[in-house]
Amino acid sequence: MKKVKIGMLGLGTVGSGVYKTLKRFDNVEIVKISVKNIDKPRNIEGLDESILTTDVYSIINDPEIDIFVEVIGGVNPAWEYISAAIKAGKHIVTANKELLAKKGKELFELAEENNRVVLYEAAIAGGIPLIMPLKTILAGNDITKIEAILNGTTNYILTKMDVEGASYNDVLKEAQELGYAETDPTGDVEGFDAMYKITTLSTIAFGQRVDVNKVYREGISKVRAEDMKAANELGYKIKLVAIARICEDGRVDVRVHPTLVPKKATLAHINYVTNAVGMSGYPIGDIVLSGPGAGEFPTASSVIGDILNIAAEIETTDYPLPMMRCKHSDDANIVPISETYNKYYISITAPNNKGVIGKIGTVCGNKNISVSSIMQKGVSENNTADITVITEVCKEADIQAAISELDGCNINSLIRVM
Ligand code: HSE
Repeated sequence: MKKVKIGMLGLGTVGSGVYKTLKRFDNVEIVKISVKNIDKPRNIEGLDESILTTDVYSIINDPEIDIFVEVIGGVNPAWEYISAAIKAGKHIVTANKELLAKKGKELFELAEENNRVVLYEAAIAGGIPLIMPLKTILAGNDITKIEAILNGTTNYILTKMDVEGASYNDVLKEAQELGYAETDPTGDVEGFDAMYKITTLSTIAFGQRVDVNKVYREGISKVRAEDMKAANELGYKIKLVAIARICEDGRVDVRVHPTLVPKKATLAHINYVTNAVGMSGYPIGDIVLSGPGAGEFPTASSVIGDILNIAAEIETTDYPLPMMRCKHSDDANIVPISETYNKYYISITAPNNKGVIGKIGTVCGNKNISVSSIMQKGVSENNTADITVITEVCKEADIQAAISELDGCNINSLIRVM
């Protein structure tokens, strides 16, 4: 049997998982792996070190190699190498969510011009089968809504804060010590990772290109232990939720932010590093796909599925995998966050003056905001009161205006409610 030859860029966590598990298949073979440092000690059982190179172009320019697997992440230099590999006639398998979100349009146009396929199952929610199902078996649906937990690091931190009553900083520090969070956690905790993923996921699901620069993003670093406790008392969990929905006027609302999720919702029960993607559409109705969103082997599972999918096709057709290609060309009209409608949780610390609760109610009423619940449990020793408000659905611009009018009150947190 002729083996399909593969060149891989990167041999970190994901690359190692791909190398180890792909050995079980005899129709595909990794023949070269490009690494930054060839002398780095690697604990990969059975690794044939003779296939390592520091010269990416020795893969790109090798006519025997059919599939270029990129598992280094980031836009540069991944984009340079991937675009060169496509021009050199290679199909691409990538786990690079940032590249897809920022360069998706150019990437898929270039691939189509060269009749090459780009598969990226591993880029969004790691091991959860998502892209292939959306493009194939769900192709007959109009997907109108996605609500997803797409980042394991933040879900781990929020779960620990919930279970232990601990502060964000304490849990982050512990997660870093255990290797669950990166030394520089910004990409995860400030929501960039989830933003890249929902950008591509909503683009595919809605068939309209979502501009990553227009996606509203807020991370979890300001979520307080007190908010977790209050949310629990009110019947919610706090999760970093990536949301995308088609509005009645046809515009697309896409964002990532901490969200109070009702305890009865499936997403409230997705804990630690697990990811979950809820989608609604016609005719399917509501579905939730859940599983490991990161890690060596779950991510390798998706990369390998993509490799085997391409390998099975390239010997038999000169237009492989038509359903997996990018077919949309319209740009989505994105709703600015100020024009979105949400329920809100507001945590306020106010001086213990007469009429404070009344003032909050009046300011909200004047801004067309209806209060759903308001809670104050006594007065603290320093003569201030902690007040928790949940609103009914109202406009973001109105809640921001109301908050700026609550002078004298300290707004501890403003979190949207699902
Ligand atoms: N850093 C991501 C997470 C995994 O924490 O979920 C890779 O996309």
